[in-house]
Amino acid sequence: MPTFQPVRGMRDLLPEDAETLNYIVCKARETAKCYGYKEVITPIVESYDLLSAKAGEEIRQRMFTFKDLGDRTVALRPEFTASIARLATTALKNEPKPLRVFSVGSVYRYDEPQRGRYREFWQSNCELIGAGTAEADAEMILLTNSFLKNVGLRNYAFKLGHIGVIRGILTEEGVDEKTQNSVLQLMDKKEYDEAFKLVKHESCRKILQGLLEQKGETGFETLKNMKYYVKGHEKAEAAVDNLLDILVLVTQSECPVENVEPAFARGLEYYTGVIFEVYIPELDIALGGGGRYDRLIESFGGAQTPATGVAHGLDRIAMAMQMQGVQVRTVEGKRLVVVSVNELMKVEALRIAERLRDAGLSVEFEVMGRKISKALEDADKRKVDYAVIVGKRELNEGKVVVRELHKREQTTVALEELADKIKGAT
Ligand code: HAM
Repeated sequence: MPTFQPVRGMRDLLPEDAETLNYIVCKARETAKCYGYKEVITPIVESYDLLSAKAGEEIRQRMFTFKDLGDRTVALRPEFTASIARLATTALKNEPKPLRVFSVGSVYRYDEPQRGRYREFWQSNCELIGAGTAEADAEMILLTNSFLKNVGLRNYAFKLGHIGVIRGILTEEGVDEKTQNSVLQLMDKKEYDEAFKLVKHESCRKILQGLLEQKGETGFETLKNMKYYVKGHEKAEAAVDNLLDILVLVTQSECPVENVEPAFARGLEYYTGVIFEVYIPELDIALGGGGRYDRLIESFGGAQTPATGVAHGLDRIAMAMQMQGVQVRTVEGKRLVVVSVNELMKVEALRIAERLRDAGLSVEFEVMGRKISKALEDADKRKVDYAVIVGKRELNEGKVVVRELHKREQTTVALEELADKIKGAT
């Protein structure tokens, strides 16, 4: 028989990794709640048309797409934003605005597997729907800042940009939307020469090339350079002003901004405003990213609704924690094993185990049919704290033997005091 392995790009998360991921999920949930976000759970499988509509070619080509048995073309979600935009035009349509929605779960992209890049990975995702202000955009960055701080990361910093700068220039230079999308996709991959080749007019190409050179020492300096550079391109100028408003808000709240990227683009096509990503110095892949998308909901048949959002890459955050030596701090309760002295005591022992579980303790039952000494040796090896040994003599007096495994000490405890004694022990 062949042995089976996970499919390429998919991973098993063994107990330690699963514990870390769950810890990060808890922190993401806590942070989102702190900012007033309500959690929704949406399907992993959605219609291909929904997921592909505005995601852009890059994501479209990487979706796990298939026909279900009813001949519908469906796909595994590559992100949450499309599903939440769907909700905003249907079940949550009449909710008062702003609408703050949080989701967490696995997403799927047929990316080339490498360090920090998987085909199944986890995101926590926040969408803020109905607000078009700089404060709303700043909230996504501040929430991400809080989340990363809460998981214990250090030295991370945000990279900011505004899709309206490049789109503004291209629109005013008469470049159609389809070409704009292709240019932005290539710019996202830093394939600038290829991107500029798509722009027919020499003058427009020069403007874009020059834009790359406007980076200053700080975000504020970059914006000053950009503002001067795009003068006369009304839309691009407005985008720079908007980015300045957002930069002021986040830096005033002591959020670390590394810089503004004059020609920043992101893989997703639906962005219309500010875009951002967050990095730590030890890793050159983003831990999270997001931005404003004011036309997505309308394109799904909803009313014209401004919206902004962010997704955090939880697997990469786990990796970043490991690189920075951040410990996962979970409060582990005491672990117990219940062992019966012999076959005859099995029923009683099981009943006692159930009572201890009802009292909130984590209790394993000896199911291997081993002798007591072997069972205790095994439990000690696995760092179980206590063994509750159920024997006839003690039970006749309403008692059991409790052995503190690593101390190798044991006492006899009355059944009615058992749970409290174990819980209270330090
Ligand atoms: P995204 O930048 O495509 O944005 O993904 C967000 C994060 O997911 C990335 O920064 C990265 O940490 C993680 N990520 C992406 N691809 C992979 C991969 N193959 N393996 C591991 N981690 C990965 C979005 O998904 C948008 N929906 C964000 C958003 C929400 N924009 C507005 N609202």
